[in-house]
Amino acid sequence: MRVVIVGSAHDAAAYGCDLFLGQLHDKPTSVFGLATGSTPLALYQALIDAHRNQGISFAQVTTFNLDEYVGLAGDHSQSYRHFMQRNLFDCIDVAPENTHVPNGMAENAELACAEYEAQIMNAGGIDLQLLGVGRNGHIGFNEPSSSLVSRTRVKTLTEGTIADNARFFADGEYQPSLSLTMGIGTIMDARRVLLIATGDSKADAMRAAIEGPVSAACPASILQMHADAIVVMDEAAAAKL
Ligand code: GLP
Repeated sequence: MRVVIVGSAHDAAAYGCDLFLGQLHDKPTSVFGLATGSTPLALYQALIDAHRNQGISFAQVTTFNLDEYVGLAGDHSQSYRHFMQRNLFDCIDVAPENTHVPNGMAENAELACAEYEAQIMNAGGIDLQLLGVGRNGHIGFNEPSSSLVSRTRVKTLTEGTIADNARFFADGEYQPSLSLTMGIGTIMDARRVLLIATGDSKADAMRAAIEGPVSAACPASILQMHADAIVVMDEAAAAKL
């Protein structure tokens, strides 16, 4: 695990953007694993800027998102599909059919998860997987106690995660308590993993992930076992190391 501490959230996004653009340069047909949440937004904006200002093309890229809420259709304003369209896909030249987000409306969720795994495999596996981290150390929606070898499946969200994400939902709006998420084993299969953590609310999780034991109690700690994992933090997220 390579640990990189930078001065600010802006610097963390710039570091991540360089990694993505380097990967794209080396392999224009790269398969990217993508994440939602507020952390990746600055990185996505940097990729959009690279597309608009430097002519960087994503036309041959394939993407797979980590997770989606069960019960929200892709056009729901709080779905992760909608988040990705608004914050990245609609602003670059990625082919719509090459973007994948788990289907939160699937009638047979178990089958949809198995198909998602097969799609990742058929695409040749993920070259670079982007991760944020929850305050409890979750990655994707793999909450503490998730199996460290889990695959894409339905997961219950913890009360803390539901509370953390409530800020994105309007008062009284339905907020799901179930998700479809890539498993920890799925994430570990990516050839390279980049986790970005910014802000002091992530400091405890990052101490557990980097200095604690590898444990299902802190899902992000599994990255200690990955051959090519890079963890980029701002000083606030790294404050308790
Ligand atoms: C959600 C997502 C995670 C993300 C986390 C942290 O739970 N499923 O993938 O890492 O939020 O979000 P934020 O970056 O907003 O702190």
